[in-house]
Amino acid sequence: MKILVTGGAGFIGSHTLIELYKAGHEMVVVDNLCNAKEKSLERVSSLINGARIPFYKIDIRDREGLSSVMEKYKFDACIHFAGLKAVGESVAKPWEYYDNNISGTLVLLDVMRKHGCKNIIFSSSATVYGDPAQIPITEACPKGRCTNPYGKTKSMLEDIMIDMQVADPEWNIVLLRYFNPIGAHPSGLIGENPNGIPNNLMPYITQVAVGKRPELGVFGNDYNTHDGTGVRDYIHVVDLANGHVCALKAIERNCGLAIYNLGTGHGYSVLDIVNAFERVNGVKIPYQIKPRRAGDIATCYSDPAKAEKELGWKAQFGIDEMCRDSWNWQRNNPNGYED
Ligand code: NAD
Ligand code: UD1
Repeated sequence: MKILVTGGAGFIGSHTLIELYKAGHEMVVVDNLCNAKEKSLERVSSLINGARIPFYKIDIRDREGLSSVMEKYKFDACIHFAGLKAVGESVAKPWEYYDNNISGTLVLLDVMRKHGCKNIIFSSSATVYGDPAQIPITEACPKGRCTNPYGKTKSMLEDIMIDMQVADPEWNIVLLRYFNPIGAHPSGLIGENPNGIPNNLMPYITQVAVGKRPELGVFGNDYNTHDGTGVRDYIHVVDLANGHVCALKAIERNCGLAIYNLGTGHGYSVLDIVNAFERVNGVKIPYQIKPRRAGDIATCYSDPAKAEKELGWKAQFGIDEMCRDSWNWQRNNPNGYED
């Protein structure tokens, strides 16, 4: 298929390009580089026999720019990664988040339908479940209250796309609810490249390991979990990338609306991750227990059975590979894509 990949220079997008290439798809990337470097695409190219993926530095809110790319390539489908994703920043800059994520997606959807492309895979998040009504979380679990503008944009965009699909059943819309993507391509050439102080656990751990930060703060050890620290469903980014290739099969079958959790179904605590990282990589991670982080929940992990049953997708990598590949990327690129 010919696929428009918005946000394709970013963390998940760059890994997905490789798996799409391996599956025989043709891709074009649109990214405004607000949270990425073009170098990630050069690295992707080196991992796919030097093949070049056409790249357009365009903001998805730029209707004319997007229209001209759509007109040129006549895409079969879009995989829509472009968006802002930092929870804390979204609390400080709600307008910027609603404008970028909501207005951007509205422009994208409109330009797509005007060009007769009504197939989209959307990057949603387990955050839409809020404090989940049941564990493990199935797709039938009701959505919950999101505590921050970032999470609200994901939940609102899901609702918008669901309404559009009801009104026009020609749309095939796959909402992928990611759990906690970590790891990196096993080559160590591409990976996560956070700006400033990392918000998420694994990038923080790898920055401690590489000596950029003195110690990890563990946000709370008084949760109702096996060791008191927060439990999450970490998933290797290469597995996540493959989930998108499988989701294209649903689109080819004219799935209408389809929603899938992408997780492993296993929950690991913060201290489980610290211990696994130390064991697998032979690096010490000093840490200190800190107060709980506002908005955090105790436990969140998926039931990924629906994606396996309907898409034939199942995570292949375990926590050891996630820790190994996260460290391999950070160790080889202490400053990410910066020289
Ligand atoms: P990322 O920041 O690495 O990638 C997003 C990309 O979108 C970046 O390259 C950025 O430059 C681009 N972008 C942002 N706004 C844009 C705009 N208006 N026009 C064009 N390009 C724009 O993030 P990621 O981790 O790869 O996440 C990809 C998607 O998955 C995001 O929508 C994110 O919200 C979602 N998601 C991520 C996680 C996670 O933990 N990483 C979890 C759940 C959902
Ligand atoms: C965060 C986001 C969520 C987003 C998800 C995926 C918040 C409140 N939620 O979820 O919206 O969809 O990332 O990217 O930010 N932890 C520490 N020390 C740290 C960092 C994290 O102890 O320095 C703990 C957290 O308290 C949590 C676990 O590690 O228990 C995982 O945290 P994180 O990686 O930020 O992911 P989530 O909180 O699941």
